[in-house]
Amino acid sequence: NTQSSMQNKNILITAGPTFEKIDPVRFIGNYSSGKMGFALARECALRGANVTLVAGPVSLETPHSAINRIDVESCEEMYEATVEHFKQANAAILCAAVADFKPENMVQEKIKREKDDLVIRLKPTHDIAAQLGKMKKEGQRLVGFALETNNEMAHAQDKLVRKNLDFIVLNSLRNEGTCFKSDQNKICIVTREEQKEFGKKNKQEVAIDIVNELEEII
Ligand code: C5P
Repeated sequence: NTQSSMQNKNILITAGPTFEKIDPVRFIGNYSSGKMGFALARECALRGANVTLVAGPVSLETPHSAINRIDVESCEEMYEATVEHFKQANAAILCAAVADFKPENMVQEKIKREKDDLVIRLKPTHDIAAQLGKMKKEGQRLVGFALETNNEMAHAQDKLVRKNLDFIVLNSLRNEGTCFKSDQNKICIVTREEQKEFGKKNKQEVAIDIVNELEEII
């Protein structure tokens, strides 16, 4: 039984969606369940890593007792926690489906129905991956995800370079019964040199493939 190179490494993982408040009772969110990120956290913990899991609003149990879980709601909160913990991290896996836009102003009172229409102006959120890509020091590794609906490979390769990632995990909404909410996923690992296609499998098995790839470069 060879020792895992994950042993005692500090691994930072983001998972789940973010919710961006519109008013005290409403938000902009997405369908991310957090299952992929939680499976990654479990796999890293099983291999002896110190895992910090920054989780958006999900209804999942922490999958391993050795995981330090930080629950957040908005991109702003996820950004603060992630940037703070990246300083001590050997690697970060950014699996969260972070909102790209948020309401410009959070309305303090619940918005009433008596209106003909309602316009909510949005502004961009922090790009956590891009920020960590800028902060990345020699020896640190950064892994991102890309969920695409079209021109998948071109978009993934663009993100890999633009966000200064070491590799990116591409999943497509075109593969039925994968991605959001599903227990299964079908991925392609994209590095600067190559593309590795994997078959459709359970997210826990997908996590094994992803962590194997990370072990090779950490
Ligand atoms: O640009 P896009 O959102 O498709 O990039 C996906 C990758 O960037 C994922 O790894 C995701 O976790 C990360 N991301 C982020 N902060 C954002 C948006 C995306 O960390 N605001």
